[in-house]
Amino acid sequence: MLPFSPPHIDQKIIDEVIDTLKSGWITTGPKTKLFEKKITAYCGHQSTLCLNSATAGLEIMLRWFGVKEGDEVILPAYTYSATANVIMHCGAKPVFVDIGDDFNIDENEVRKAITSNTKVIMPVDFAGYPCNYDELNSIVNFPEIKSKFTANTDIQKTLGRILILSDAAHSFGANYNGKKTGALTDVSVFSFHAVKNLTTAEGGAIALNLPEPFNNEEVYKHLCIKTLHGQNKDALAKTIPGNWKYDIVEAGYKMNMTDIMASIGLVELSRYDSESLKRRKEIFDAYSIALSKYNWAIIPEYQNDKKETSYHLFALRIKDATEQQRDQIIAKIFEKQVSVNVHFIPVPMMSFYIGKGYDINNYPNTIAQYQNEISLPVYVDLTNENIQTVLDAVINSVKEIIALTAL
Ligand SMILES: Cc1ncc(COP(=O)(O)O)c(C=O)c1O
Repeated sequence: MLPFSPPHIDQKIIDEVIDTLKSGWITTGPKTKLFEKKITAYCGHQSTLCLNSATAGLEIMLRWFGVKEGDEVILPAYTYSATANVIMHCGAKPVFVDIGDDFNIDENEVRKAITSNTKVIMPVDFAGYPCNYDELNSIVNFPEIKSKFTANTDIQKTLGRILILSDAAHSFGANYNGKKTGALTDVSVFSFHAVKNLTTAEGGAIALNLPEPFNNEEVYKHLCIKTLHGQNKDALAKTIPGNWKYDIVEAGYKMNMTDIMASIGLVELSRYDSESLKRRKEIFDAYSIALSKYNWAIIPEYQNDKKETSYHLFALRIKDATEQQRDQIIAKIFEKQVSVNVHFIPVPMMSFYIGKGYDINNYPNTIAQYQNEISLPVYVDLTNENIQTVLDAVINSVKEIIALTAL
C-alpha cells in the first residue's frame, strides 16, 4: 500500500537524535532554544516558542489574551477540530463562518460575524495556502470594528482590537506578499506533527509578531513560564549551581518541547527549502499538470501573484461528485493500493458540535467543498513512479464510479 504521508527519517535525523540522547540533556534545553532561533530567522517574525503541539500553542495564546466565557472566537467551519476545541476549553463560543473557493475563511463572512463579544479571529491556512491577511489585518483595524471591541484584560486593552491568531498548522514556509507565514499577522501557530511538512514527531511553535507596544521577547518569556507549570525557572536554569530555588507564579500548563523533538526539527529545517519544499512543489506540479486534462478535476489553487502554498495537502476535488460518489472513489483508490484522505470533515458535522447546536447547512461552500474533496499523497520520498501510480489509481477510480453512475 502506498502510504499517505510517512515521515522522512534518515541517518542524519537518527544521528542528531542520538547526539541528544547521549548529551545528558533530553528535555527542553539548548537544542529547543536553537530551533526556536532558527525558526525566527527562517520565517522573519519576532520571537518563537516551541511547544509539544500546535493545539497547545493555540490554546495558550487564547488564554494569554484572556479569552473566557461570554467571548466569541471566529474560525472557518472547514478546519480540523483542534481549532474549535481550544476555544471550547477556554469556555468561549466558537463562531464558525463559511469558506471561499480556495478553502480558506471568507473575509466577508468574517466581517458579518463580528460582534462586541468577538475577541479573536482564527484563520486557518488550509493545505498550506495562506489566507488573505491584507484583508483580515485591515478588518480588525477598521474604526467601526475597533470601536465595537470590548477590552476586559490589560493585554486586550493594550492591543485595543480583535487579535488575529492564525492556525498555521499547515503553512510553515508558505509566502504571502514576499513574507513567510509567521510574519503575516499578530500570532501564528505551526504544527510539527508526524504528518506535517516539517516534523518533530509531535510538536508545534508559536510565532509571535505582535505590534508595538508589545515586546515580543517579554511575551515569549511570559509564555515560557505559562507553559511550564507557572514555574519561574526551567529545568536547565535550575541546574546552574546555587540556582535550585524556584517559585510558582501562576497555575501554569505543561506544554514544553523536548530536545529530542527539537533535534529532529533542526535537521528538517536545515533542508526544508532545498529538499522538502522543492520536492513537494514538484509533486504538486506533476499532479496539477496531469489532472488538468480531465474536466472532472478541480485543481486546488496553490499559487497566485501574491501568495504561494507550503505544498502541504493536494486537495483535489471531483467536479459534481456527491459525497457518496466521492466515498466510492476513495474505496476504489484504496483497492488499487494507494492511500488517500479527506481534509477535513467540517467541524459542524461532528457529533459533539451538532450537540452544541451547530448546523452544517449554514455553511454551503464548506459542504460543497468537503463532499467532493480527496487529498492525494504528498511527501519527500514519493518517487516519480509513485506519482504515476497515484494518478492512475485516481483517474481509473473516478472513471469507474462516474461511468457506473453515469454522472
Ligand atoms: C488545521 C489544524 N489545526 C491544528 C492542528 C493541530 O495540530 P497538533 O496536532 O500539532 O496539535 C491540526 C492537526 O492536524 C490541523 O490540521
